[in-house]
Amino acid sequence: MKHLLSPLDLSVTELEDLLNLARDISKDPKKYSHVCDGKKLATLFYEPSTRTRLSFEAAMLNLGGSVLGFSSANSSSASKGESVADTIRVISCYADICAMRHPKEGAPMVAASKSSIPVINAGDGGHQHPTQTLTDLMTIRELRGSLDNFTIGLCGDLKFGRTVHSLINSLVRYKNVKFVLISPKELRIPDYIRDDVLKANQAEFIEMENLEDAMPELNILYMTRVQRERFFSEDEYLRMKDFYILDKSKMALAKEDMYVLHPLPRVNEISVDIDDDPRAAYFKQVQFGVYVRMALIMTLLGLNNK
Ligand code: CP
Repeated sequence: MKHLLSPLDLSVTELEDLLNLARDISKDPKKYSHVCDGKKLATLFYEPSTRTRLSFEAAMLNLGGSVLGFSSANSSSASKGESVADTIRVISCYADICAMRHPKEGAPMVAASKSSIPVINAGDGGHQHPTQTLTDLMTIRELRGSLDNFTIGLCGDLKFGRTVHSLINSLVRYKNVKFVLISPKELRIPDYIRDDVLKANQAEFIEMENLEDAMPELNILYMTRVQRERFFSEDEYLRMKDFYILDKSKMALAKEDMYVLHPLPRVNEISVDIDDDPRAAYFKQVQFGVYVRMALIMTLLGLNNK
């Protein structure tokens, strides 16, 4: 049995197979509408979510399966003190596969160690968000045709943004990907990503504060929200929250074929004025998120040859 706890749980070949399957699904989703007949997905969300939970649920329903679960810790027995380890043993009796989001880093790993069904990490604290990474990789590959040979700017809260950490972990495995890390000094990428991922893989990267200076070189701009829920001080959050606002004047500095991605939710860091710019790809990204999660559920349940 296989879990997805980190993007590195899939080899590059397995990832390629999964993205190919997601592409095939995107062309004719109805072809897959009975693949998971009789199967159940549990969504265990101890932290708020719109896209991840609902796209997992949509994915399983599209595959002919059914869903059960909870959308907050308060509506589960976690509020009475039940451990993640006990919860997953119980859920293993009810469902065939589960997706878990938890504010504590490592909670889905604990669940996987006690689970008799595949566990998918749907975001753990400020650590990893592997299924957002699958979504991001599918989006980049569909827009550019390849995951090699491009420059990506990652902008905003690089300290707490788990989607950024997972994406860097994945992209260092591809050829000639250059990273421009754009953040205020207070929200720089953690040392373990800079040293153990970027430097350890001899990736080309630069850290800078000014978004305008970076714009002309980028093929992809990955914007992120300042993660209010991970700040210790509200004053500090308020000081940081509008540090970057991508607007038409900044987009005018970019290449004509540079795409803007964002894992969403957006707060204020992308002006709604650019939503109609053909380079704004963040709502396409949401649609790819459903196809890639359909492919992931099929793969983890061993149904990818159907
Ligand atoms: N991108 C993402 O994880 O969004 P949600 O928090 O709404 O799931």
